[in-house]
Formats: sequence, C-alpha cells, structure tokens
Amino acid sequence: MATDDRPALVGAPRRRLAWWQRGVIYQIYPRSFADSNGDGIGDLRGILERLDYLRGAPGSLGVDAIWLSPFYPSPMVDFGYDVSDYRGVDPVFGTLADFDALLAAAHRRDIKVIVDWVPNHTSDQHPWFIESRAGRHNPKRDWYVWRDPAPGGGPPNNWRSSFGGGADPAWTFDDATGQFYLSSFTSQQPDLNWDNPEVEAAMHDVLRFWLRRGVDGFRIDVVFKLAKDPQLRDNEPQRNHDQDWPAVHGRLRRIRAIVDDYDDRMIVGEVYLLDLQQLVEYINSGDELHLAHNFVFVHLPWRASAMRASIDELERLAEPRAWPAWFLENHDHSRVATRYAGGAGSGARRARVAAMLIVALRGTPFIFQGQELGLPDAEVPADRVVDVDGRDPERAPIPWRRPSNAGPGAGFSTGEPWLPLVADAEHLCVQAQRDDPDSMLSFTRRLLALRAGRPALQGGSQRTLAAAQDVFCFLREDDGHEHLLVALNFSSRRVRARVTLPESLEGRGTLELSTHAGRDAAPIDLRTLTLQPDEGVIVLVGRS
Ligand code: NOJ
Ligand code: CA
Repeated sequence: MATDDRPALVGAPRRRLAWWQRGVIYQIYPRSFADSNGDGIGDLRGILERLDYLRGAPGSLGVDAIWLSPFYPSPMVDFGYDVSDYRGVDPVFGTLADFDALLAAAHRRDIKVIVDWVPNHTSDQHPWFIESRAGRHNPKRDWYVWRDPAPGGGPPNNWRSSFGGGADPAWTFDDATGQFYLSSFTSQQPDLNWDNPEVEAAMHDVLRFWLRRGVDGFRIDVVFKLAKDPQLRDNEPQRNHDQDWPAVHGRLRRIRAIVDDYDDRMIVGEVYLLDLQQLVEYINSGDELHLAHNFVFVHLPWRASAMRASIDELERLAEPRAWPAWFLENHDHSRVATRYAGGAGSGARRARVAAMLIVALRGTPFIFQGQELGLPDAEVPADRVVDVDGRDPERAPIPWRRPSNAGPGAGFSTGEPWLPLVADAEHLCVQAQRDDPDSMLSFTRRLLALRAGRPALQGGSQRTLAAAQDVFCFLREDDGHEHLLVALNFSSRRVRARVTLPESLEGRGTLELSTHAGRDAAPIDLRTLTLQPDEGVIVLVGRS
C-alpha cells in the first residue's frame, strides 16, 4: 500500500475513452422516480417526461447514462428483482412500446441506457420455475437447484439467505415434491442452476433480446453468485461455497463475448464481496466486467485515512487497464446524508463532499436518483413498511415540486405515493433547488459540468498526496497538461490542508469548485489552503 512518502501514481496515458469511462451514470429506481398516471407508482412514461432534468435542456443535470432498476413483469416480492418474464414490462411500469419510446428519447439526447439483468434467480412465478416445481422428472427440474433434505429433515447445507441478516436458511421446502430448492434471497426468488448449460443459453438469449432492442449495457445483479460449489458443501469460516466460485469467471467471459458482438456496450456488475482482491478478479483480465461496483467503499467509515487507504489499495490491486467504478448510494443502502451525518448540518455538507469524491476519482461515478438533491433517508412508519429487508427509507419517491403547491405527492404523483416522501420535501424538492445557485442540485450540476469540461477528471492519472490527518487529497493529471488537485475535509472542523505537492507543481492555483457556496473561481495559495468544516475543493494547479 502506498504511504504518505510514496504516493501512488496510476492511470493509463491519455487515450480515447469509452462513454462509460468519460461520463456519469445515474441510477433510476423506476417505482420512485416519476408517476405519470396517478397510481402512486413511478413508471417508464414518468421517466420519459423527465428526461429534460437529466440531460439536453437548459439547467439539466448533465448525466451521460441512466441505469434502470428492473421494470420487468414481477410479483414485486422484491420490487422487481423477482422477475417472472425477462422480455416484458410490468403493467405497473407501462409497456414494451413505452420502453422503446424511452430508449429512443434518451438516445436522442445522447443518454445511454443500461438495464438491470437479474440472472441468479427468477420469481417463483416464472414459467420455468412453475414447470420445475411441477415434478421431480420435469424437463425443467434441473434449471433450479433442488436437493433432498439432510438426514433429519433439515436444509441440505448451511447456506443462509442474504436477507434477514443471515438468520434464515437459503433453502425453501416444497411440500409437493418433498425437496428443498435453493433461494438465496426470498423464498419467492429461486436460484437458477447455472451449472446447467440450458439455463446459461436461455439467459444469454435474454441479453440478446435487449441488446437487439438497443440498450447500451447491463447492470448484472449479484453477479458473484453466478457460480457456487456444485457439490453444495457447507460454507466454512475460511471459504464461502455459495458465491464467487471459480467457474464464475468463465461464465462472465461468455457473457462479455455476447455483449461484445454489439458495438460499444458495457456491463457493470454488482460484486458484493467485501474484499478488494476478490473484486478486482472481475475486472483485471479485461474480458469479464467492464466495471464492478465496489461495496468495500460503501462500508468505509467517513474518515480521510480510511478512504485513502482503500483507494490506494484498489489502485495497487487493479491492473492499469482495469477501470474503477465509484458509488456511495444505491437502492439498497442508507443515503449518504443520513449515513455520514455527524453534528448539526454535517450530513448535508458531507453529501456534497461525497459527490465531489466519486465524481473526481479516476473511474466512473454512479449517482443514485435523489443523491443530487442531498436527500436523506425517509422516515417510514411501521404501517407503511413494504420492503422485505428494511430498504424503504432510501427508496422514497423523488420530490419534484413543493408539497405546498403540488400537494402531498410533491409532483411525483397526483395520487398516494407508494412510499412516504422525505420529511423536508418542501425545501429538498427539485423546484426549490433548481434556481438556487447555492443548492445541492446546483452544486451537483456544476460538478458534473466540471468533469465534462476537464479531461484530467475524466481520463487523467491519479495520485494521492500527503495532507493533514482529516484531509484526503489527490491529484488528477492529464498528460502533464492539466493538474487538478482535490482536497476533501472529512472533519467538521476548519483545518489547514497541509498538502505536499510534487515539486514540478506551483503552490498557486485557481479554485474551480468548492462544496461551500460562494467560494468558487478565485486564485488560491495551496501552501496555506484552509478548508472549512466538511468542505471539499477542486483546484486547477499551475506548473512551476
Ligand atoms: C441486489 C439488488 O440490488 C437488491 O435490490 C435485490 O434485492 C437483490 N440483489 C436480489 O436480487
Ligand atoms: Ca404510475
């Protein structure tokens, strides 16, 4: 690992970047983005009607791509991650024609569209599973993972469901045929048997279906579970047998080969392994995932030293050609403004620092809808809880308009929203933030514009620099032309940054952007740089 006196210098020399390297990817959770027909649930038409917000109109956020969480037909036990038809659209979200219209409208604005592919499991209402459970000798029996009970009648092994904090077995007993089936999430999400080549071929056809329709890529749900120990041996303290089995890499190469048959497409995987060495195995060879979501990063404490150590470690483990992906929010985790809240007001300030961090790091940033508004988690009273695993608070609908003008649906819906909105929708809504130059939304827009206009932020090399204890500092450099220094104060105290600059650079620069309102575009002396509580800055540095 790089130490303070041995800064890491990484990054490929300047070259043409792909869209998924240059740009910013925005995750849309369709249920909660915008409801076009007043049933309280967001839908595809709602997204289409809001594309101006995202790109291609005055005042747009300026994102380059959207990732749509699942919109396929589903019983919604896991809100769409239980798919009953991989080639359709659930009526609650619209029709396939609505999808095609959304895709075309997005492409007209130069927005790429990534869809979620859920290959580890189907819904128990999927026709494949209905057949599979119909009898032990059904031709689809082996499309899922069926086993006799252990001696004594219990589940076949010690594997646990990913939900419920590991309390429940990953097996569901089926009375009709007297066997258990593997269900790594809810019982209504039976795991497909990827050791069966017919399953692999059928799921490849699903990819081709969406590729031919014109999607630009896939986010692959729980990709690290696409191979498990075929002998179904118990998990051991030193080794999990229910995930990340070596066969996963061959399977991913075959997936990648299909995607590569089409121009300029991308796959990003949910590699939920809390070990960076295991993570890089999915991106290092260059013929598996283009991008891997890094969950180690999401679980770090809000400390400069922790961020720095983890970023340096990833840069050390990743091959130079591997491209990082950065995110701090998605639909499964508490939002940044809540998760990192320290003292008064710090959550909102840290949400800006977090955005600056992921947008300025070498790699592709993913922003979860509402992150650009600095939304906190919503309070969800017990009688409104709908998720099986406690994730409602981060899934609250987007407040578009002031409830005082638009009613309790806040422009998200004219009906009763499926989940309560955040408490302070009046001030956090898009309408309230849009024209306020000091708002989080305006800040995020400037941040994305800065990345779009500065090659060093898109493709430049990166090195971390020694700085004061609470300050995480790194330099982005574009072939020696452009040097951008990023300094982030992880404490809620005012601190002298004490950045150690390389000798080739001057101690002076121009402030390009601060997370604090009213501090933009001024000359700055880096030797005396002082950061306000929870402040981050990006400075264009001169050469000596
Ligand atoms: C990960 C998804 O992000 C999550 O929402 C879902 O519940 C599980 N995979 C199961 O598909
Ligand atoms: Ca709707």
